Amino acid sequence: METRRGFIKKSAIVGAALCLPVSLTRESRAAYPDLKTRNPKRMLVLWYSQTGQTRRYARLIGCILKGKGLAVDACDMQEFDKNLLSNYDLVIVGTPVFYYDTPANVSEWLETIPSIKGTPVAAFVSFGGPEGNQHNASSHILKLLADKGGVPVGRDTFRNIASYPTPNWNTPNQISGQHLPNAATFDQVRRFTADVMERITLGETISVGYEVALREGLSWLPLVWLNKKAISKHTVDAQKCIGCQTCVRKCPTKAINPSQQTVDRDKCLACFGCLNNCPADAVVMEYKGERLYGFPEYLKRNKIAIMEPSELNTCSL
Ligand SMILES: Cc1cc2nc3c(=O)[nH]c(=O)nc-3n(C[C@H](O)[C@H](O)[C@H](O)COP(=O)(O)O)c2cc1C
Ligand code: SF4
Ligand code: SF4
Repeated sequence: METRRGFIKKSAIVGAALCLPVSLTRESRAAYPDLKTRNPKRMLVLWYSQTGQTRRYARLIGCILKGKGLAVDACDMQEFDKNLLSNYDLVIVGTPVFYYDTPANVSEWLETIPSIKGTPVAAFVSFGGPEGNQHNASSHILKLLADKGGVPVGRDTFRNIASYPTPNWNTPNQISGQHLPNAATFDQVRRFTADVMERITLGETISVGYEVALREGLSWLPLVWLNKKAISKHTVDAQKCIGCQTCVRKCPTKAINPSQQTVDRDKCLACFGCLNNCPADAVVMEYKGERLYGFPEYLKRNKIAIMEPSELNTCSL
């Protein structure tokens, strides 16, 4: 089968030659199997989330569906048994955009799920900047689900405050997105959920639809490797560490060992999950010699309170 990158490269060349618009789709709707139901009852919302933003949207989607009387499970995909996927009438997967793409551990997880032939599937991403290649990152999730027989019925991208640590947390994207998510973001999530349900009822599907975007090219670069080269120190401060194991739980590759103060740099994906979740400022990361601090500390120093959607006040998911 043609690879995603191969397709986009060819589309760009042909599109440029023919002066076509730059937004192209990859698969026709006819390519998908029939939806297994138009009356879904059992829903699954899966997320991968390092600083809670994707999780917030996933819970909101789950709570909206639950509020409509549907049976909903919502779970961190790292804790979910993928053999249970075919039990559901709708599977929605959400992840952050990392390095202009779906996080590598999420892609690997989705590549190894069993067949979900005919199951309606939808994808969303949370992202931190307008040029973050968010559309194609969500397409990537949808394609991986469609490769396993899932039938795409929805996709969206939700911008929020960026949680990529830089020494002063003051890049233009970090500053311009500090107030997000806001009420409009949560309305967008509500619309996405309603659209997904409506499409299933009507038996409609959507195409995976990659865009030919400049930023897609950046996702082909070895960004994780380059970033790891720039991280001059990555260890654990034994004096500060309280042994809570949060970093171990959050690390997607089990690369960190706080009791030995070590990080397996080969396994590390430079996701900053350890730094961004340590409650004791014990994860030491230096970027080009400058000490980084994590997302909670950034919120505290800047007195930023992230808005919560009202549905989560009363919903137990
Ligand atoms: C390692 C890393 C890489 C990131 N790369 C991108 C990116 O390429 N494009 C983008 O729009 N946002 C990027 N971001 C910002 C995240 O996508 C954004 O903060 C997201 O909402 C985090 O989701 P979470 O709270 O569920 O982990 C990156 C963040 C991190 C930590
Ligand atoms: S060690 Fe930290 S930065 Fe590296 S993969 Fe694990 S959580 Fe992510
Ligand atoms: S999260 Fe921080 S305090 Fe907890 S075990 Fe890891 S390094 Fe130690």
